[in-house]
Amino acid sequence: MAVVVIVGAQWGDEGKGKVVDLYTEHADCVARWGGGANAGHTLVVEGKKLVTHLVPSGVLRPGTTCVLGDGMVVDPDQLLSEVRDLKEQGLLVDDRDLLVGRRAHVILGYHKRLDELREQRAGAIGTTKRGIGPAYEAKAGRRGLRMGDLLRPERVAALVESNLEEVNPVLLRLGGEPFAAAPLVSEAVRYGEALARWIGDAGRFVHDAILKGKNVLFEGAQGSLLDLDHGTYPYVTSSSTLAGGACTGLGVGPTQIGAVIGIAKAYATRVGAGPFPTELPGDQGNLLREAGGEYGATTGRPRRCGWLDIPALRLAVRTSGMTGLAVTKLDVLTGVQPIKLCVAYRLRGETLDELPLDLDDLAEAEPVYETVDGWTEDTRGVRDLESLPQAARRYLSRIEDLLGIPMVLVSVGPNRAETIVLRNPFR
Ligand code: IMP
Repeated sequence: MAVVVIVGAQWGDEGKGKVVDLYTEHADCVARWGGGANAGHTLVVEGKKLVTHLVPSGVLRPGTTCVLGDGMVVDPDQLLSEVRDLKEQGLLVDDRDLLVGRRAHVILGYHKRLDELREQRAGAIGTTKRGIGPAYEAKAGRRGLRMGDLLRPERVAALVESNLEEVNPVLLRLGGEPFAAAPLVSEAVRYGEALARWIGDAGRFVHDAILKGKNVLFEGAQGSLLDLDHGTYPYVTSSSTLAGGACTGLGVGPTQIGAVIGIAKAYATRVGAGPFPTELPGDQGNLLREAGGEYGATTGRPRRCGWLDIPALRLAVRTSGMTGLAVTKLDVLTGVQPIKLCVAYRLRGETLDELPLDLDDLAEAEPVYETVDGWTEDTRGVRDLESLPQAARRYLSRIEDLLGIPMVLVSVGPNRAETIVLRNPFR
């Protein structure tokens, strides 16, 4: 039995979905612990593309239970539409394949509207406008509506009405329209009826699975540098994206975790505003964007692209206690000559081995680059390290040396088969 946590090691979009899908072959249960429909998992199976935002990527494997943990914020409308699509594709057959934590918080229309209106103001974060921040604010303010509440119409009415008393004046001040309670309440009650069969005790379920010796995978969303506490605040999401978040979001103790695998692209990307010191503006960035298809799975926004940032990865390795690294999209670097690797930062005469997090420091810090040879050979057919072009092998082993953790997987294309598996954390 093993409990493995998968964490994004950059600013999200590292290709976690593909790695989770691969590891799910060995997992009985795949659970998400935080965030909501801001995530977008692009999965490609037998050439077919599928995007999920709430349901964990484990859904592609029959017999795996997918859990939406209590630390998540769930948009019931989005969840119902995903469930419908997955059922149509024959990917969600049994009701027991999905479990939604009854303590997960609910995102309603006004959360999304608040998010949208705030994003129109100066200093926007560049959010996905999925209502994530406002829902977590309500949770921390102890005003939130939870998935279990959807099954109790009187509670829905009381909570929606009292929330709207506070939210409507804010909506008006931000230039929006107030929400009427009655239609929201009946909509929420309908969501509850439609989702009732999947709402339950997610924490207990995961705990029991671990006790029974099952293989359990905790699937992170977003990336380490978007973590609310240890990311590039305020340009972060509103939840804990690090491995520790899996414990709080799922109600599991840290002693249960067996391995933490960080996922990093062979280069770096970021969507939304915020510091990105190794960003490549202009043609070179555009080249990576087109080669890597770097457009947001949730919003379609073009992703900002740049060189791999080792100091940022060091921070991610440290804050999640990563035990292994999976590198994705190595194939995208084919033809890029030369490749640069940021190995440190210079800040006011000092050399830093980790990305500084203070915004002023980030504005001043200068990346220190190493230049490495690129390669031109197509790597998508390669299935073992030895068959990779020598320059690609050197690049990977330099990353491994600089981070001090072993590489467990290298992805050379979007399909399941296009993978070099080095170590299996479930074995
Ligand atoms: P929010 O999570 O929608 O509030 O957005 C906050 C920040 O996190 C923005 O910069 C978003 O672009 C970013 N973000 C949120 N979810 C993801 C994700 O799944 N991938 C990449 N960036 C994300």
